[in-house]
Amino acid sequence: MDTKLVCNNVLYQGKFTPLEVGITGGKISGVGRSLGSATRTIDLEDKLLLPGIIDGHVHFRDPGNPEKEDFRSGSEAAARGGITTVVDMPNNKPPIKTPELFRDKREMAKKKSLVNFALYAGIPKNLSLIADIVNEGAIGLKLYMAQEEVDLRGLYAKIRDHNTLLTVHAEAPEYINPEGERLTSPTEYVNSRPPIAEIEGVKRLLADNGVRLHIAHATLAETVKTVEGAATTEVTPHHLLLSKDEVDLGDFTAVMNPPLRTTSEREGLASLLPGEVDLIASDHAPHLKRQKRTSDPAVGSPGLPGVETILPLSLTYADRAGIPLPRVIDKLTINPARLFGFSNRGEIEAGNWADLTVVNPDVQSRVTGQDFFSKAKITPFEGWEVSYRPELTIVNGEVVYRDGELTGTSGGVFLSGDGENSGQ
Ligand code: DOR
Ligand code: ZN
Repeated sequence: MDTKLVCNNVLYQGKFTPLEVGITGGKISGVGRSLGSATRTIDLEDKLLLPGIIDGHVHFRDPGNPEKEDFRSGSEAAARGGITTVVDMPNNKPPIKTPELFRDKREMAKKKSLVNFALYAGIPKNLSLIADIVNEGAIGLKLYMAQEEVDLRGLYAKIRDHNTLLTVHAEAPEYINPEGERLTSPTEYVNSRPPIAEIEGVKRLLADNGVRLHIAHATLAETVKTVEGAATTEVTPHHLLLSKDEVDLGDFTAVMNPPLRTTSEREGLASLLPGEVDLIASDHAPHLKRQKRTSDPAVGSPGLPGVETILPLSLTYADRAGIPLPRVIDKLTINPARLFGFSNRGEIEAGNWADLTVVNPDVQSRVTGQDFFSKAKITPFEGWEVSYRPELTIVNGEVVYRDGELTGTSGGVFLSGDGENSGQ
């Protein structure tokens, strides 16, 4: 055995239990009361040993905007946040909509990523390219409803043919005030993208079915209820924790698409977290402070960094809301593993890859944008007090982050979501 983790609180088969977890050759080689000797033993005492966090929605800006983030910095930030796998979006420059661009991005990210990664592709103009894109290993396709005109029936036929996943940013364009793009007031900007855009957007998607459909960043209970049974849903910590009534939208730091809702809408969404909601994802969308909209709307940039806050915010919130931790952790681990087909990740179980995260439940810390490993050093959660600090992140058996330091050398692997997922 290469490594043995000894811990009083291992999340194993749905419960926190005192156990030892053995790692050999990158995989979990045993879980038990007394595993015998190992080359290295790490005693985690009363910390929580969790399956590695799988963040199903990030934008690492590579290729396109390396000043905002690149795959190295984004994956380092992810490791610091306790994340062992990210699923990256295709709205790069250029957008990843051809097999060639997909391949280039995949090979680039293999060289740079410290954590495991999977990649979405965008919707190609010529839908027949989807076959090759899926063959290259895309985890699914991402549709930006507000920005792309697509023939949904034709797209659904392709999605079905290739049994891939369609993830949608569902805001119907006709309900978005086009003036919004030019507005310099954050409140007016937020109001230019009303709830009805999301509600009508998701209804449109359900007209046809038989596709694996996933709704990104749902902001309303009605969205989750409307699609239940027909699609999976994801929520972000910011839509769960912040509302446009309570937060200073300030210099656009708390502005993203879809935007924050009212307090009662936020509470409605949060009430479904313990049950219907499938995933929590960060929608890590980094922009530099100087790129946030000021008096010049041309530089306006909705989105916020999230990989370094998703885990402590989600668990701190679970405590506050009285939701048992395992229920929330499932939405960060096993549920995304199942959705994306990462068949041997997402749970602490002998035989699975050793993707593991350790958080310290007893330490309180303050969210400080300046300390982020992400290049985007701003957050609407600035100053928030959170528990559950990520202290140790293990990817494929390798310690990549420990106590404030990046320690990995071999990096993460590419996951295509079709079976063994050993990565290549
Ligand atoms: O706030 C957002 N930021 N929403 C999106 O849909 C895109 C993202 C980005 O890429 O910045
Ligand atoms: Zn996004």
